[in-house]
Amino acid sequence: MKGNCLVLGIETSCDETSAAVVADGKELLSNVISSQMDLHRRFGGVVPEVASRRHVERITAILQEALDRAGVRLKDLSAVAVTQGPGLVGALLIGVSAAKALSFAAGIPLVAVHHIAGHIYANQLVEPLRFPLVSLVVSGGHTELIYMPAHNRFERLGKTRDDAAGEAYDKVARLLGLPYPGGPHIDRLAWEGKPVYPLPRAWLDRDSLDFSFSGLKTAVGTVIRQEEKVNPADVAASFQESVVEVLTEKAIAAVKKTGVSELVLAGGVSANSGLREALTKRCAEEGIRLRVPPPELCTDNAAMIAAAGTYRLWDGQTAGLDLNAMANLALA
Ligand code: KG4
Ligand code: ZN
Repeated sequence: MKGNCLVLGIETSCDETSAAVVADGKELLSNVISSQMDLHRRFGGVVPEVASRRHVERITAILQEALDRAGVRLKDLSAVAVTQGPGLVGALLIGVSAAKALSFAAGIPLVAVHHIAGHIYANQLVEPLRFPLVSLVVSGGHTELIYMPAHNRFERLGKTRDDAAGEAYDKVARLLGLPYPGGPHIDRLAWEGKPVYPLPRAWLDRDSLDFSFSGLKTAVGTVIRQEEKVNPADVAASFQESVVEVLTEKAIAAVKKTGVSELVLAGGVSANSGLREALTKRCAEEGIRLRVPPPELCTDNAAMIAAAGTYRLWDGQTAGLDLNAMANLALA
């Protein structure tokens, strides 16, 4: 048997059906991800009902493939960890039901994982997390600054008051006629343009670690409507500069406020090249250690859920078979 503690992770909170096997909370044995992006692209966003149905169709085969690629059998597993929330409730329910069935059938503990905790723990698969740390979690559904004094302990320092960073990327991409999900397209286009449009930066109240992106999205819409010949690359560059500047400066402020020495980037938007570049530069200037997940672990995947789940298992935080999916699960 490989490793001492083998955890099977399951993630179905949005439009990726994923299963993975992780050994001892750090070694990735398999990470199978089936993306539904093509299915949702023509609607310009994720259609919850369509996502749930596709999860049902895929989950069994994905689970089997994760076990096969890892070379482990059901009876070798120490536990099954699943995303309980937040996310689309119908989509989450498929993963939670599959995890409960496996836990019952194999007689192994069930562990419920918060999706944001998963994103942070994606970094644990590269190198052990060092506490205390601050994590900037930027995804399609979240923009949060989290303080972690130790494993399994999370304190929220700031959050978005409206749109998430990834959501803003996707909405602006739509305004520019780019396909869903728009983040990677804007990221690419931004390098071809210049930040010539003066877009707002939402710093909010003095010292606030909260974010707001809806005003920026509206401002981009106004530029596109008012300019006679708008250059999409310049719009992308201006938008990206505004988002990156606010994310970077608030993350640095959170690190200084808490006195930690490590900043951990997490979530789908951490794949953004502009954000990586700006954070690398600012962290070097400030003497902060920056951790950035590899691109394949930035977006939704089950390996991060298995890694986070392993630490909850070791803490004795297991769930009963009455576990329910929760669309608005709080991080605690
Ligand atoms: O973490 P994730 O896979 O799903 C959620 O939990 O929401 O994040 C998906 C989000 C999408 O909004 C997508 O546009 C964005 O991450 N994204 C990016 C980039 N790659 C993915 N945003 C900006 N730049 C990128 N390179
Ligand atoms: Zn996510």
